[in-house]
Amino acid sequence: MPEPAYHYENVLVEISDGIAWVAFNRPDKRNAMSPSLNEDMRSTLIELEGDDRAQVVVLTGVGEAFSAGMDLQEYFRDVDKAHPSVQIHVRRVNAEWQWKHLMDYSKPTIAMVNGWCFGGAFVPLVSCDLAITADDAIFGLSEINWGIPPGGVVSRALAETVPSRDALYYIMTGRTFDGTAAEKMRLVNTAVPRAQLRDAVIELANGLKDKNPVVMRAAKIGFRKSRLMPWELADDYLYAKLEQSQFLDREHGRQAGLEQFLDEKSYRPGLDAYDRENNPIES
Ligand code: COA
Repeated sequence: MPEPAYHYENVLVEISDGIAWVAFNRPDKRNAMSPSLNEDMRSTLIELEGDDRAQVVVLTGVGEAFSAGMDLQEYFRDVDKAHPSVQIHVRRVNAEWQWKHLMDYSKPTIAMVNGWCFGGAFVPLVSCDLAITADDAIFGLSEINWGIPPGGVVSRALAETVPSRDALYYIMTGRTFDGTAAEKMRLVNTAVPRAQLRDAVIELANGLKDKNPVVMRAAKIGFRKSRLMPWELADDYLYAKLEQSQFLDREHGRQAGLEQFLDEKSYRPGLDAYDRENNPIES
């Protein structure tokens, strides 16, 4: 199959050294998410999932914004006038990439917050597995400032990550906060000085892309799906996930990991990963 070319008007994709850099590309509109950007993002994520050049996907923005949230003109005002079936389609595409696809993504995802991050942008931010922000990036739940409660699943995304006191404070006041505050309330993993942002993301991505991808997928999807299950169901589901990963894992990571530790004594799993390069078990 030919490799995808990623020629999208609203999304810039660069693949380098196993990392796919996916950038919202409407800098003049502070990367506000329009219906056409949403279509481009949906296609991009689907294509990247099958693109062997990409082991880790990084979501960011071109220019001074991560994303100023939903496009108030193109996503709201223009669509208000459209036929109800168009409105349903627009919302469906939005949800498909912003959380349904990202939450279930087979490859590790990192949000790299390079600037303004408002409203609807919290959904893909939270739906990425991990997030690193510039410490001076500005975040806000601006909805109350322009006359709506947070729409879509923005509030649900906040509840996934942020304590209620912080979530309600920012939802109710519409005040902004910076990357350092975002780290403190655990909306992101880390806030770093802007000059170090890209290197911090590369360092994190490199640590992910070398891991066994079958096990990685089972580990992250297992966590996401089991956390809302009752314990009995989670126990059964997570064992099934573990057995599924062993069944699908052609490099037989579990066997290699045990052999290299117990027989060869060549590494310590508490401190490092087994050697995938010199694994004779692969079939
Ligand atoms: N929807 C539509 N257009 C947007 C937008 C959005 N969410 N955010 C920015 N834009 C547009 C502006 O209308 C402006 O367009 P123009 O040049 O054609 O007039 C352009 O992007 C630049 O915006 P501007 O406000 O001049 O940039 P700034 O750097 O001074 O401020 C923000 C940046 C993000 C603080 C400001 O644009 C803003 O408040 N945006 C809205 C944030 C928001 O409430 N999002 C909705 C969440 S659901």
